[in-house]
Amino acid sequence: MKLFADTAIINEIEEVSQWGIISGVTTNPSLIAKSGITLGDAIKKIVNLVDGPISAEVNEGKADDMLEEARVYAAMHKNIVVKIPMTLEGVKAVKQLTKEGIKTNVTLVFSVSQALMAASAGATYVSPFLGRLDDLTQTDDAGYKLVKDIKEMFKTYQFKTEIIAASIRHLEHVNQSIKAGADIATIPYKVLKEMVKHELTDKGLKIFAEASQK
Ligand code: G3P
Repeated sequence: MKLFADTAIINEIEEVSQWGIISGVTTNPSLIAKSGITLGDAIKKIVNLVDGPISAEVNEGKADDMLEEARVYAAMHKNIVVKIPMTLEGVKAVKQLTKEGIKTNVTLVFSVSQALMAASAGATYVSPFLGRLDDLTQTDDAGYKLVKDIKEMFKTYQFKTEIIAASIRHLEHVNQSIKAGADIATIPYKVLKEMVKHELTDKGLKIFAEASQK
């Protein structure tokens, strides 16, 4: 499973890009608002930090309006993936962008049928939201089951669309994404940093440090 950074905060992307293991970045309007810069400025900076797919989200609306915005972002850099919301207008826009050779990431996916609609339109990626689905269902595995079901459906019908597990809130969501067979997980900075940690690693390091003192 590839690791993407789910943030538009440039300092965070600068830091994680130095680890050498982050292969893409996803943004959305909430993350852009948090970053304090415009989406256009964020794109210009992020493309210089990470050489991989960078998702830039259009505003929800009519297919033609989303297409116009999508073409602007896509023209900014070869790595731009246009993030399109899961609506009927969005499906129409994805179909057209696919014809134009522009990569898409269909976002706000919460069901297998939505994933089928997106993949049928030729979406490069779909983004099922684990955390938000768990919130709605008040369970800790609805997001996991969704990713698993989408994975199986894509396999059955031989779709090439890749799954980006999104709305990752904690380490268990990362583990679930791996188990469910997500192609990619897009992970917030805080959770990315936690992924390297384990209490027994810290304990082991202390024991080794004490031993080498002796
Ligand atoms: O990748 C989508 C993500 O940014 C949404 O996360 O925590 O707002 O559900 P959250």
